[in-house]
Amino acid sequence: MAGLGTVGASLLQLLARRRLPLAERCGREIQVTAVSARDRTRQRGVALDGLAWLDDPTTLADRADVDCVVELIGGSEGAARATVEAALAAGKHVVTANKALLAHHGVALAEAAEARGVALAFEASVAGGIPVLKALRESLAGNAIERIHGILNGTCNYILSRMEADGLAFDVCLADAQRLGYAEADPTFDIEGFDTAHKLAILTSLAFGTRVDAEAVHVEGISSITPLDIRMANELGYRIKLLGVAERTRAGIEQRVHPTMVSKATALAQVMGVTNAVSIDADAVDELTLVGPGAGGEATASSVVADLADVARGAFGAPFGVPVAELAPLLRAPMQRHEGGYYVR
Ligand code: HSE
Repeated sequence: MAGLGTVGASLLQLLARRRLPLAERCGREIQVTAVSARDRTRQRGVALDGLAWLDDPTTLADRADVDCVVELIGGSEGAARATVEAALAAGKHVVTANKALLAHHGVALAEAAEARGVALAFEASVAGGIPVLKALRESLAGNAIERIHGILNGTCNYILSRMEADGLAFDVCLADAQRLGYAEADPTFDIEGFDTAHKLAILTSLAFGTRVDAEAVHVEGISSITPLDIRMANELGYRIKLLGVAERTRAGIEQRVHPTMVSKATALAQVMGVTNAVSIDADAVDELTLVGPGAGGEATASSVVADLADVARGAFGAPFGVPVAELAPLLRAPMQRHEGGYYVR
């Protein structure tokens, strides 16, 4: 394991709690043998006895007692990228929750995993505990998908919900989200929409069979939303939500992230707090909405464990559903900004 923050500590607890049922399900035990994190002395409420402690996470790739590296460092560059690249080059499986890394370097990393025949699994990277990547890759394989839209950032939804319910200022709500372990290390990624854009780029690739590309997402965040905006929206019968939207247009796949007026009559408007929701418009199932915890240690660790169980069983395929060579280039559809803002009626 590389990284022992909120998700890493929860993962250790969850693996200990579910050790026997997981071993039965996978036909072998999942053992944590070595960990690497910046601060060895930090209180995490988990026992680290018996685990090798490495100062350099890239050296996980060199160890004979490591089959799979779990990357929970975060960030698209630096230690996280080096750790994943080293692991794949050494022929180790990789499980990661790192949406920024996948959104920016997913194609190259998937190529590296395919070349070595190992897993690159990232269910935890999108919408925390909601199994939406598995749904797109596996359960909905028989569907043509027209649109995906949803609430993909727990921190923003938490902030907007508390601003509405408790009349609190933006900064107070953000500080609470940080205290609860929902926000990114740099919360600008949350509130300016980049975290949603990373997740949307990953969803788009799986939904439309295109090469993942975070640069192709139009991004607007929520930092300029005021309590007055929220009150006015309410009076008109709307809630303001930060949505990620990817849809097929005549010009290609359009990907956008922006605050949206969402009618209170819709399911998405009922989604409050750190909860995420992803609506998928698919031809055979019509519209399907998955709702669940979008951030937080235990919920995200649940998705990491799902990937670890797949790796342990040998049940993994191409990271983006089809081999990289078969992914279509992402057509960058021009963004159509609708006059007067964005609405979902
Ligand atoms: N900061 C992210 C969020 C964490 O608030 O949704 C989960 O990816």
